[in-house]
Amino acid sequence: MPAIVSSAPAKIILFGEHAVVYSQPAIAVPVNTLRAKAVVTPDLEAGAGTVHIFAPGIDLDAKLDDLPQEHPLALAIRLVFSYLGITDPPAIRIRISSSIPIAAGMGSGAAVAVAVIRATAGFFNQKIPVKRVSELAYEVEVVHHGTPSGIDNTVIAYEKPIYYQRGRPMQVLQVALPFSVVIGDSGVISPTVKAVGDVRNAWTEQPGLYEALFEQVGEIVQLARGVIESGEPARLGALMDENHALLQQIGVSSPELDHLVEIARQAGALGAKLSGAGRGGNMIALVTPENAQDVAHALMENGAARVVHTEIRQPGTGDDSLEG
Ligand code: PMV
Repeated sequence: MPAIVSSAPAKIILFGEHAVVYSQPAIAVPVNTLRAKAVVTPDLEAGAGTVHIFAPGIDLDAKLDDLPQEHPLALAIRLVFSYLGITDPPAIRIRISSSIPIAAGMGSGAAVAVAVIRATAGFFNQKIPVKRVSELAYEVEVVHHGTPSGIDNTVIAYEKPIYYQRGRPMQVLQVALPFSVVIGDSGVISPTVKAVGDVRNAWTEQPGLYEALFEQVGEIVQLARGVIESGEPARLGALMDENHALLQQIGVSSPELDHLVEIARQAGALGAKLSGAGRGGNMIALVTPENAQDVAHALMENGAARVVHTEIRQPGTGDDSLEG
């Protein structure tokens, strides 16, 4: 049996993080140059039923049976076996690698889950429909996040710009005119589960205030959708600034993120905001072809651990991402 390889992209949230957990809409896009990859091969040396998982990036070299039930990789594999009705798998080896930074708001957990799910199913000559892949990855996300909105697994499984609202069918966003963002990594590790949990505590203590903040974020998302679909992406800059201010009030920014956001604006970005769970991880800045290099350079000079330039365009219209 040949090796089966599958990969899945990183993602960024353009608008609406955190509020999306509370049923407001959000907009997310794939970042295709950063990817998680899973390779499944037959293991000719091991006894039947041995599933060996090898993920050097996280120092994992273990057998499936030795991992706890809630281990995200073990869970992804068990979910596929159960979905496909596989009770006695042959001996296989699953090797996982990823260029997506971990705990940085780029969906690394969901991307690994999607890649593992597809590669494992592929090994058994099965192609799981994208909606089911997304649902299975969501079950893995629950272990990572606690109360995930479902946006990560959806955008990563579909690999398209999406408008997402919890409990509603996902909508593919029509990108009338391509636009570019520079993604700046603060280098600060920030587990999503912690930021989401803190917001939940704050919301429990001050429900009125937080509901109002989430609604304001939701209004920005609606406006951003209109702007993207009508081909006036320059207007997204001011909306990013407004969304960032609301995320500061929600309590998920950090001095490092605020600093990088400010640096990007000073370097000519049309707007900037944190992206993802916040506290650390990434920020994004809306750039033009003329100022993209300046913004990327300014971010690197002022503390960004890494910068990626990505173009957002209608799916299927060419390579959409450039690493810088
Ligand atoms: O982008 P990440 O993986 O850091 O996820 C954060 C998105 C949140 O809205 C904060 C949580 C969620 O489940 O949508």
